Amino acid sequence: MSMVELRNVSKSFGQVKAVDEVSLQVKAGEMLCLLGPSGCGKTTLLRILSGFLQPDQGVIIMDNQDVTGLPPEKRPTSLVFQNYALFPHLNVFENVAFGLKIKKLPMAEIRKSVAEILEVVGLSGTEKRSIRQLSGGQQQRIALARALVMKPSVLLLDEPLSNLDAKLRVETRVHIQQIQKSVGITAIFVTHDQEEALSISDRIAIMQKGKIVQIGTPEEIYANPNSKFVADFIGKSNILAGELKVDQSGQNVFKLDSGLEFKVSKGTKARGKGVFVLRPEHIQIATQPVAQVESLNVVNAKIEHVTFLGEVSYYRVIIQGNEELLVPLYGVSQSNINVGDSVILTWPEDAGVFLKE
Ligand SMILES: Nc1ncnc2c1ncn2[C@@H]1O[C@H](COP(=O)(O)OP(=O)(O)OP(=O)(O)O)[C@@H](O)[C@H]1O
Ligand SMILES: [Mg+2]
Repeated sequence: MSMVELRNVSKSFGQVKAVDEVSLQVKAGEMLCLLGPSGCGKTTLLRILSGFLQPDQGVIIMDNQDVTGLPPEKRPTSLVFQNYALFPHLNVFENVAFGLKIKKLPMAEIRKSVAEILEVVGLSGTEKRSIRQLSGGQQQRIALARALVMKPSVLLLDEPLSNLDAKLRVETRVHIQQIQKSVGITAIFVTHDQEEALSISDRIAIMQKGKIVQIGTPEEIYANPNSKFVADFIGKSNILAGELKVDQSGQNVFKLDSGLEFKVSKGTKARGKGVFVLRPEHIQIATQPVAQVESLNVVNAKIEHVTFLGEVSYYRVIIQGNEELLVPLYGVSQSNINVGDSVILTWPEDAGVFLKE
């Protein structure tokens, strides 16, 4: 059953179509990420969902109810803002209790709810602490507690981790995911960080210029991007321009503009001009000649640049026609491969995706 449904929702600001005919269904208990570059309409869509902004057209259904014309306080949503928006002069208890006090709930009930939710976010006993005495990650969890304490059916999060440093981002996103699953709440999480989206989501909706251009599980989108834009945006990709065709022996091949051909055995129904997306991890580097295997592409290359990142090194290599490819090597055992070396690349013929122009 879907908890949130958008039908044909649009919103323009003057000439800018910030949200362009978006239709979307989010299942109960699902974590959906809206992912896309700056300015693609993510915040606008979240504000429309929360009721802070009215769409020009379209219908919004939540929990089987049409909420299109309803103000924020009448919707089953809570929004966690990008900058937390905590009240610095109020302590933890007063921040978390804020919405419940506005609802004029009895004080005993408020105390109980706040204590319960602080336990959920792992910050029991901090009620009397000043907001300024908390770390960035703790403040983030208080912002989450303040939203969750209202017991919304739908939690909306707008880039909630963007103020945190890299290590804390990873810790806090794991925490948010665990809390979301343990509470069983439906969540829509906005980010422009593809790694965050891949790691936290049940499904990802990729936005480009106000439209949702692809939606699917992280695995589906990573393995089968439906456009060059998505392939480039999610994960690292080698994107090669050329043509998919059949050679004289009846084999499907991708011919690069530079002339090099390699075998392709998957997704070959659409032929013609286009791009071939080859994920770096499908390519192997060898320093010695490799045994010919029918289903393997074997290509000569030269190492152009090495980026050492600890557990992995990325090798930028040049193949025939000056085409560049990125290839990872895990562990440091292969550090005998250096800039200028001639190497051999191999990748299976069923690796990669062809996208017709
Ligand atoms: N109140 C507004 N008035 C005019 N234009 C706006 C307004 N709000 C957003 N826009 C425009 O709508 C487009 C989408 O903006 P939005 O804030 O939704 O993007 P975003 O995907 O959240 O970007 P970011 O990742 O930078 O936060 C942008 O071109 C933006 O300039
Ligand atoms: Mg935004």
